Amino acid sequence: MNIQELEGLIKGRRSIRNWKKVAVPDELIQKAVELATWAPNGGNYQGWRFIIVKRKEMIEKIADAVQSVSDKIASWPEAMSWQEDVKRYQKNASFFRNAPACIGVFSGGYQSPMDKVLMIRESFDPEAKEILGFRRSAPTAVQSTAAAVTTMLLAFHHMGLGAVWLVSPIQAKKEIETILKVESGMDLICLVAVGYPDESPQKDRKPVDQVLEFVY
Ligand SMILES: Cc1cc2nc3c(=O)[nH]c(=O)nc-3n(C[C@H](O)[C@H](O)[C@H](O)COP(=O)(O)O)c2cc1C
Repeated sequence: MNIQELEGLIKGRRSIRNWKKVAVPDELIQKAVELATWAPNGGNYQGWRFIIVKRKEMIEKIADAVQSVSDKIASWPEAMSWQEDVKRYQKNASFFRNAPACIGVFSGGYQSPMDKVLMIRESFDPEAKEILGFRRSAPTAVQSTAAAVTTMLLAFHHMGLGAVWLVSPIQAKKEIETILKVESGMDLICLVAVGYPDESPQKDRKPVDQVLEFVY
């Protein structure tokens, strides 16, 4: 693959939210998850888990749980201040119920040796507590899982599939972990809904010089 082909793959991927009613072969999902596990990850700990849900009723159940929590948040008086935006989020909360497959992405906690030292000292050493706060503000486990999800989305796109990364379902974390009987110590990070695309959305990016700075 030359750099133009790589650029085409990266820039050609879009989040897909409408799918054909066609099943996705298990082998494709398995290959995409396998490739995802080759993503860089903290300490090569690989503390991630992927639960592939293809049973329609189970996807519906997860979507209902997410919709129910979104409805509740939208009904709280505080939502009035952002009524239009909240309504839009509420309306789109569970569109993934139509996806042929839904992947629950989970992660166990990751502790580097530095975390272990800092955790012992945090109760009596303000400096250690502050440093631990820096580490917790950018958790290694979440960053590692994000790297895997990015890789998975590119693999799906290369296979002609269309996927979307979904973090808003985290609002129903408790319900989703119960529905999927997730082992204790594993936390839901996101869902990935996938299928054969039934739309061709366009998206742009800011010019790179708006977000990049060289320091010489
Ligand atoms: C961390 C993360 C969370 C996201 N959460 C959602 C979500 O909850 N619902 C949704 O429809 N899209 C979600 N997306 C997809 C983004 O909306 C999408 O990537 C962005 O608009 C850029 O569009 P593109 O992926 O087509 O380039 C999420 C993406 C990321 C990386």
